[in-house]
Amino acid sequence: MKDIMLNRFSCRNFNNKKIDDEVVKDIIDLTRLTPSSLGLEPWKFMIISKSDDLQKLGEICNNQKQVSNCSHAVIVISRIDLQNKDPYLLDTIAAKGKSEEKIKMYHAMVSNRTGQMDEKELKHYADLQCYMATANLVNIAESKGVKSCIIGGFDYEKLAQFVDAKLSNTQKHLKPCIVIPLGYSDDKATPKIRHSLEDVLIWR
Ligand SMILES: Cc1cc2nc3c(=O)[nH]c(=O)nc-3n(C[C@H](O)[C@H](O)[C@H](O)COP(=O)(O)O)c2cc1C
Repeated sequence: MKDIMLNRFSCRNFNNKKIDDEVVKDIIDLTRLTPSSLGLEPWKFMIISKSDDLQKLGEICNNQKQVSNCSHAVIVISRIDLQNKDPYLLDTIAAKGKSEEKIKMYHAMVSNRTGQMDEKELKHYADLQCYMATANLVNIAESKGVKSCIIGGFDYEKLAQFVDAKLSNTQKHLKPCIVIPLGYSDDKATPKIRHSLEDVLIWR
C-alpha cells in the first residue's frame, strides 16, 4: 500500500500504449467494492475509449490533453434514484438479504436520509460516495501499473450532455460526477510534497 500511495501521481502525459479492456474491467470490478453511505452504491462507471469521443471529452474538460490522449477515460456517474419510490433503491435493499424487519428499518433510514432531499441534494449525496470510489479507483489502477489523473475541471453542462447522449431515456437519473483518464506513461513519480504528519494530525 505504501508503494501505491507514493508512486501514484496525477499523470498529465500518457504514452500511446492502450490498456487491455480486461484490465480496465478489473479496475472497475474492484472499485465497486468501495464503501458507501447506507450501502447504496450510488454510482456507475462509463468507459470512453473511442478516439473521437476522447477528443470531445478533452475539449469538455477545458482542453486538458491528458483526457484526449489517454487510453480509456472513466466518467464516474452519480445516481440520484435513492428514495423509497425508486426501483433501484428497492432492489438494492432487497439484495442485501436481510430479514423483513431489517428491511423495514432500512426503508425508515432511507426515508430519514434521502427522503426529503431535492435533486440537487441527492446529487451532492451521491457525489460524496463517488469521490470515495474515485480515490479507490486511482489506487487500484496504480496497483496494476496503470496511471491516472482525477479531473474535476470541466464544463458540467457540456459533460452532462455528453453523458446523456450515451444513455437511454430511462437513465435520466444518472449524472456525471468526475472524469478519470487512464493510461500508461513514461513519466516517473516525483517525491510527494504534502503537509507533514504533525501538521495534519490532531491526537486527543
Ligand atoms: C477532486 C479533484 C479534482 C482534480 N481536478 C484536476 C484537473 O481538472 N486537472 C488536473 O490536471 N488535475 C486535477 N486534480 C489532481 C490534483 O491537482 C492532484 O491530485 C494534486 O495536485 C496532488 O498531486 P498528485 O495527484 O500528483 O499527488 C484533481 C484532483 C482532485 C482530487
